[in-house]
Amino acid sequence: MIRRLSLTARLTIMFGLVSSTVLLGLGSVIASSLQRHFADQDRDLLGGKVMLVHHMVERISTEESLAELANDLRDAFIGHPDLAVLALAPDGRVLYGSNGVRFPAERLSRPQSLSRLDAFEWADGPRKFRGLAVAIKTRIADAPPAVVAVAVDIAHHTQFMKAFRRTLSAFVVGAALISALLGWLAVCRGLAPVRAMKARASAVTASRLDQRLPVESVPIEFADLAYTLNEMLARLEDAFQRLSDFSSDIAHELRTPISNLMTQTQVELSRARDPASYRELLASNGEEFERLARMISDMLFLAKAEHGLTLPSIERIAIEREVEALFDFYDALAEERGVEFQLSGTGELQGDRPMLRRALSNLLSNALRYATAGSCVRVSISTESSVVRVVVENQGPTIDPAHIPHLFDRFYRADKARSHEKTDGTGLGLAITKAIVIAHGGSVAVSSMGRMTSFYLVLPANR
Ligand SMILES: Nc1ncnc2c1ncn2[C@@H]1O[C@H](COP(=O)(O)OP(=O)(O)OP(=O)(O)O)[C@@H](O)[C@H]1O
Ligand SMILES: [Mg+2]
Repeated sequence: MIRRLSLTARLTIMFGLVSSTVLLGLGSVIASSLQRHFADQDRDLLGGKVMLVHHMVERISTEESLAELANDLRDAFIGHPDLAVLALAPDGRVLYGSNGVRFPAERLSRPQSLSRLDAFEWADGPRKFRGLAVAIKTRIADAPPAVVAVAVDIAHHTQFMKAFRRTLSAFVVGAALISALLGWLAVCRGLAPVRAMKARASAVTASRLDQRLPVESVPIEFADLAYTLNEMLARLEDAFQRLSDFSSDIAHELRTPISNLMTQTQVELSRARDPASYRELLASNGEEFERLARMISDMLFLAKAEHGLTLPSIERIAIEREVEALFDFYDALAEERGVEFQLSGTGELQGDRPMLRRALSNLLSNALRYATAGSCVRVSISTESSVVRVVVENQGPTIDPAHIPHLFDRFYRADKARSHEKTDGTGLGLAITKAIVIAHGGSVAVSSMGRMTSFYLVLPANR
């Protein structure tokens, strides 16, 4: 299995590779231009010598003067131990050869013309030469041209280039190591904010969800990431807070009725009683159990609705039809309370029918409960620019403005004094209504003044 390389290692290797590639490229450019420079220098030197010999050979007009050429060449090249000269007579005889250097035979057989001098290189044993071979015409009638070859020992150039390459390689290796080291240091420093973020993130626990990653002190490349992670933490904190509030609310709301049930049962059992007394207790307990069961199912519904519930089935709903159905359902209760229903307007929207009916039912049951006898519970529906508005109004006790902001909180009951009566609600109705409306993308509001209480639902007509 290939081990995953750390970012630091990758960047360090990359730094080393890049700097050694650049240096190697630069070095080879310098080496090749040096070599070209040496070759140019040698060619100029050899060209000069060829011109000198050309001058001597050109004047030869007899066989005798040809024999004297050897002496002239010896005189001309005295004091040039690094130069080698070979002169061949038109008939191929060696007229003069210095330094015992062996010129390549195929070059001598194909001599160049003076107008196009092109130096060639060859090795004679351990020695290396660069040379020129030219054909020069004498003035001897009908004789083919003489061949003169001049060469220079280039061992010192070769030596120099070898040393240069060795130094260059050592330099490249050293520079690659140094730049890798510097790269490593730079990467370590550059990644410090990531380590800081990691340290901060590892401090986040369920009890310390308020921790946030530093956004201002990190480079902009990381700021976006830190910001997104912070948003995620905020969402988690919010969800976690709601969850723990939820469980503490449940515990709190269940504790009182259960301890009441327990005490009543223990008192009843403390001594023998008549059957009627037991029956009365069981009936009372039964009612309390019913209320608890309703509360638990409401809690479960609310938990689902609050935790990003996706609406189970979306369909087109005529709101006025649902309200009419609810009026029928509450008809008997309304008659008992001496309250009348009134409906005005129509509105159509996309939503989940049972859930919307539940939201409206909670509002109607409250309105019925608090409506003054002989008054009217009014539901008005209107549609304005793709939004459906539903208002449920009743005449009754004005809600204290201090309660208004908390009315939609779960377990919140404005009339605390009545809240212990068994017939009273659990304080979940409005919380459920709000959760359903929010799940539909809408909003809720309430106003209560001059003995008139109105609940407003604003719902988008299309999803
Ligand atoms: N129409 C209204 N007039 C006056 N007060 C109201 C009205 N509707 C709601 N309230 C107040 O708001 C509180 C919260 O209502 P909500 O429907 O959430 O709970 P509930 O009716 O007490 O219980 P549940 O609906 O769960 O049976 C009520 O206890 C009541 O004090
Ligand atoms: Mg209610």
